[in-house]
Amino acid sequence: MEAATMSRIGLAGLAVMGQNLALNVAEKGFPISVYNRTASRVDETIDRAKEEGRLPLKGFYDPKDFVLSIQRPRAVIILVKAGAPVDQTISTLSDFMEPGDCIVDGGNEWYENTERRAQQAAERGLLYLGMGVSGGEEGARNGPSLMPGGSRAAYDCIHDVVTKVAAQVDDGPCVTYVGEGGSGNFVKMVHNGIEYGDMQLISEAYDVLKHVGGLSNQELAETFAEWNRGELESFLIEITADIFTVKDEHGSGELVDKILDKTGMKGTGKWTVQQAAELSIAAPTIAASLDSRYLSGLKEERVAAAKIFEEAGLGLGSSTSPPGVNKKQLVDDVRKALYASKICSYAQGMNLLRAKSIEKGWNLNLGELARIWKGGCIIRAVFLDRIKKAYERNSQLPNLMVDPDFAREMVERQAAWRRVVSMAIHAGISTPGMNASLAYFDTYRRARLPANLVQAQRDLFGAHTYERIDRPGAFHTEWTKIARHNKSAAKAFV
Ligand code: 6PG
Repeated sequence: MEAATMSRIGLAGLAVMGQNLALNVAEKGFPISVYNRTASRVDETIDRAKEEGRLPLKGFYDPKDFVLSIQRPRAVIILVKAGAPVDQTISTLSDFMEPGDCIVDGGNEWYENTERRAQQAAERGLLYLGMGVSGGEEGARNGPSLMPGGSRAAYDCIHDVVTKVAAQVDDGPCVTYVGEGGSGNFVKMVHNGIEYGDMQLISEAYDVLKHVGGLSNQELAETFAEWNRGELESFLIEITADIFTVKDEHGSGELVDKILDKTGMKGTGKWTVQQAAELSIAAPTIAASLDSRYLSGLKEERVAAAKIFEEAGLGLGSSTSPPGVNKKQLVDDVRKALYASKICSYAQGMNLLRAKSIEKGWNLNLGELARIWKGGCIIRAVFLDRIKKAYERNSQLPNLMVDPDFAREMVERQAAWRRVVSMAIHAGISTPGMNASLAYFDTYRRARLPANLVQAQRDLFGAHTYERIDRPGAFHTEWTKIARHNKSAAKAFV
């Protein structure tokens, strides 16, 4: 095939994300070859390329033809379901690839799978990247946030393409070379953990406004739209405002009220919490979002439990404003509680990234990662620019909350935060994400915690020793013996 007619890059896997990313690449002027095991997907993509401006996209039904249609060194993006399908696709395509060619896995892959595959690819002289792709269907088509990690040479091979295809923000494209190994997948995983936290916190804000404030769906739509014009401006707040305006086509009212309250999940949030535990990094806001998804899954149990507790005298409470609730004040308080809690969620995510970076020697640049999340991805938010600046001011920032700007904002909002959590508790409305975030904030900012008692308990029953605040060393005390002696001595005086 003549070089002039060869494609600049290839993409295998033409489900929603793959199709849209391929069209995005073509639209940016890079001739692309596409392949999918199911021929109809190839046909669909070819048709869309024609409809959307006769884009330079060629469809292939045979893996060999597909690979050989790509100019060398070949770069092939794979966008198939994480796990075994990736291995199968690599096995099919790599038979026709040559040393120096690159494989880029764009799925939500477990980072260790990427590291294994990179090793296997290297044995065939192939370069390998694990690239997080965030932004859903719209992002893939019009500008995702891309988080490629692995072979630097592979990144250099696709740098011209990904910097054009990614979302563009004021300080550049939302893509960067994240680091070595599975760092790209790990960063995407933490992105999803923060996403879980964000979505949980927004759902709690909605819950409090609806059940404590008595806001209607129209008022909720207006409130979130208003919030999206201020410090909470973000993709998730924007779409939330939109959701409350969509009517149910099968009945009266808004669709949101007809949706079953059972959350699905594909697993990246769980991985994030597992990794936090492995790395001894507190991530209570993200963990609360995961537990909330698990509890939402117990729909039948919850329906039965609600009946039991209702009969025992404890209902949810009124869904209109309890007496004396000032709606305007509540809306403002919830906005502040949501913002402060979000800072905790992002702080936890950043701490997790830094801990893993140290463990793996990835040298992750937290400010740069905040920058590439400013656009395209699901957690894109105006305050990510401020997170970027916080880490630029101090790359060793121990916690986002102690950046002077964010610390001031937390203090300014903490009274409202406490009012919201207290009102929710009294109304029997669970706000596990906001509670966990407030507890995280209150724990982190205290110089002395009740951990001294836990140490004493551990030393008493397990002789695990303890440290003292006034002298170095490890100490053990015969607590029970002393306590018993004290008791008998006291009795002797009675
Ligand atoms: C993104 C999203 C996406 C993820 C969905 C569903 O960044 O575009 O994070 O990758 O698959 O959010 O995730 P859950 O099913 O785990 O909620």
